Amino acid sequence: MEIVRTPSTLQTMCTQLRRAGSVGLVPTMGALHAGHIELVRAARRQNDITVVSIFVNPTQFGPTEDLSRYPRQLQRDCEMLEQEGVQVVFAPEADAMYPAGSSTWVEVEGVSSRLCGASRPGHFRGVATVVLKLFNLVVPDRAYFGQKDAAQVAVLRRMVTDLNLPLQMVVCPIVRDHDGFALSSRNAYLSAEERHQALSLSRALKAMAAAWGDGVIAAARLIEIGGKVLAETPGVRLDYLEAVDAHTLLPVEEAGPGTLFAVAAWVGSTRLIDNAWIGPGSRVHL
Ligand code: PAJ
Repeated sequence: MEIVRTPSTLQTMCTQLRRAGSVGLVPTMGALHAGHIELVRAARRQNDITVVSIFVNPTQFGPTEDLSRYPRQLQRDCEMLEQEGVQVVFAPEADAMYPAGSSTWVEVEGVSSRLCGASRPGHFRGVATVVLKLFNLVVPDRAYFGQKDAAQVAVLRRMVTDLNLPLQMVVCPIVRDHDGFALSSRNAYLSAEERHQALSLSRALKAMAAAWGDGVIAAARLIEIGGKVLAETPGVRLDYLEAVDAHTLLPVEEAGPGTLFAVAAWVGSTRLIDNAWIGPGSRVHL
């Protein structure tokens, strides 16, 4: 496994690797867990070469957010990726990705200002910019993202379509703990008590999905049902709970195939997100 530190080395290496076969890219911020590893495995199955990036991207963090305390464990991450048979890890320093004078940004209008984009202004501008840079360095055939970050998926799909990017986006299901709690690198911040309280996010979504299965389709009523679960849990402060169209992230009046139930909440000082969506054939993905 090659560990590459500079964009120019990665670009040269990927130009050569593409001659040998198809390339899959898995962008991450590291502190890898089983959710990331599922993306890596999907990439390994579907491509000859798998490139994983590990970069805590400063431009997607707000000034009061957790950039400085975000978990960093490059050596452990690389050991996990080596075991998975990954060929290339790209782990640049911030000033290699954003040299002095960098001033070009990718703004995906509309969709970037909804859900997490509403609570974290500028977040999706940072995400879209770094992901387009990674796409330009690697030129992958396929890029792998998790449904865990459903709004991120909507923003990046829009970017890929709007900019005619020659790659396929592959979106993998949310990986959860045995009790239903969605895995996240930020879960490392939680105390045992907070971890317990945080379970209310997936419980709220489950309650909404169950009510929808029982025939409740009014979005306002479903949000009330999920909101009650969260309101009853001490220590949890709601950021948003919405029923939206999974592509546009605009609110829907009635839930049906294509609807995303999305939640963000603070548990102590940690902001967590989770979601469920109704797929084709009315199957609920949680
Ligand atoms: P990060 O939070 O490290 O996540 C990297 C990828 O792993 C994302 O596509 C995310 O949706 C996916 N992922 C995280 N937890 C998951 C889970 N429990 N199940 C399935 N997939 C999961 O998302 C980012 O980094 C950054 O914004 C990035 C795209 C790398 C740009 O900086």
